[in-house]
Amino acid sequence: MKSDSITKYRPFPVVALPDRTWPDRVIAEAPIWCSVDLRDGNQALPIPMSVEEKLEMFDLLVSVGFKEIEIGFPSASDTEFAFMRRLIDEDRIPEDVTVQVLVQTRRHLIERTFEAIKGARRAVVHIYNSTSTLQRRVTFGDASREDIKAIAVTGAEVVKELVPTIPETEIVLQYSPESFSDTELDFALECCEAVIDVWEPTPEKKLILNLPATVEWTTPNIHADQIEWMCRNISKRDSVIISLHTHNDRGTGVAATELGLMAGADRVEGTLFGNGERTGNLDIVIVALNMNSHGIETGLNFSNLSSLREVYERTTRMSVPDRQPYAGELVFTAFSGSHQDAIKKGLDRRMKEEGGKWGVPYLTIDPHDIGRSYEAIVRINSQSGKGGVAYIIDQEHGYDLPKTMHPQVGKRIYDLADERSEELSAEEVGKVFFEEFVNVSSHMVLNDYEIDHHSAGRGDVACKVIIEVDRVGMSVEGVGNGPINSFVQGLEKSGLKDFTLTDYRSHAVRGGSSSDAAAYVQLRKDDGTILWGVGVDPSIEMAGVKALVCAWNLLR
Ligand code: KIV
Ligand code: ZN
Repeated sequence: MKSDSITKYRPFPVVALPDRTWPDRVIAEAPIWCSVDLRDGNQALPIPMSVEEKLEMFDLLVSVGFKEIEIGFPSASDTEFAFMRRLIDEDRIPEDVTVQVLVQTRRHLIERTFEAIKGARRAVVHIYNSTSTLQRRVTFGDASREDIKAIAVTGAEVVKELVPTIPETEIVLQYSPESFSDTELDFALECCEAVIDVWEPTPEKKLILNLPATVEWTTPNIHADQIEWMCRNISKRDSVIISLHTHNDRGTGVAATELGLMAGADRVEGTLFGNGERTGNLDIVIVALNMNSHGIETGLNFSNLSSLREVYERTTRMSVPDRQPYAGELVFTAFSGSHQDAIKKGLDRRMKEEGGKWGVPYLTIDPHDIGRSYEAIVRINSQSGKGGVAYIIDQEHGYDLPKTMHPQVGKRIYDLADERSEELSAEEVGKVFFEEFVNVSSHMVLNDYEIDHHSAGRGDVACKVIIEVDRVGMSVEGVGNGPINSFVQGLEKSGLKDFTLTDYRSHAVRGGSSSDAAAYVQLRKDDGTILWGVGVDPSIEMAGVKALVCAWNLLR
């Protein structure tokens, strides 16, 4: 910001609440959730959703588990009205779902709203008027507190008068002092009390007081103070549901909601992925999954976040940023080598610790729980650690490389990533691994291998191997205590042994339809170079022999 601009701004007043209790509270249960995707979210779209798109979004919200859905502003446009009517007339609202409609406190708009909801089993009628000092001064031309309170009361009275006109519909009443976040608390309370006086809620028939951070002006702790203050001072607390509706102007909408819940709120309004006016509404996905990550059931099901995101992006024409918590493309991807090593250790350990609690460094949740795959967790670039490459080869291709082989393969992959100045996909990592480390026959080619388990005596085996070395064919014969050792002896006799065999491992290749065995042979050349080669074959014996040939070739 330009330095001479700073004088335009002033600090935001704090709330006098020295005995605030919310900082010591812990969120232990989920609130009532209300999606406002089809209203606040939709009204903020450059191209609002069509009726068909709204229907698809409605079904999606239902499938996620929302029991309260604000479907729009039916008195504001024919499309919104038609949408509400279709939901009702085509019987699309499930028994346990309540639709919510927003309306200003004007009689003709409220009447039209009641026409729109007629025939619904249950509906929330949500009225609002703006109450902040700024709005009173600027938008309403220095309107007095009394004028503003009167708007709320008049609206509440009209709604009360119309409720009996549609007796087949159970009406739940909701009032929002819009711009609550910069309304003097005593005045916000006064407006809410005035509405309570008209609507006369009871513990059996509660009303909803929605306290919006229409604009997020300050830090989330102040929001929490405002909410705790309201919860403490409102009369008939047991007859009132306190609802949060945060926006995200300072980027702390989620934090404000979480602190607001600690401060005593019962209900949360928000949208999928935070779509909404300006910087957006609260991202309900984040708050709910944050709760899940602490072991709290929420009633919302985000187990297939990617398909949810697909419908969202298609119907709203918005996109979810790569770094968006939980849903972003890159949020389960570790680029740093040390992160990758730690993630691999955490995941390996979990495989062994059945039923254990989640504890993987850098990952707050198991990506599988929201339908995301480990596939994308580790991508390889020149900064990746050796564990990252081994992890990809293990998880994606089923090869569990010996630990001392990790640097050998890792170095090649990082050099390649560096050369290309880009990250490599799991597929590309596999391609390089298979081309450059598995069954390599650059100098020595194995054409035939016969083994005789009986003629050598003393439990030894004899082998006869037909090979080519730099296109010159030869036959190699040897005896040893196994297929590999007998071949090593044959190579020695043929003057081809300039190495010591220092390690050997094998396992069945995991995954796919493959019934191959993988063998790893480590050779130390007489000049001190140590390298691993990998052999793959349906027979474990042949895999070992191929691994030896491969390692021999890699040493050239
Ligand atoms: O942000 C807001 O204040 C609103 C109200 C209409 C609830 O969306
Ligand atoms: Zn809003």
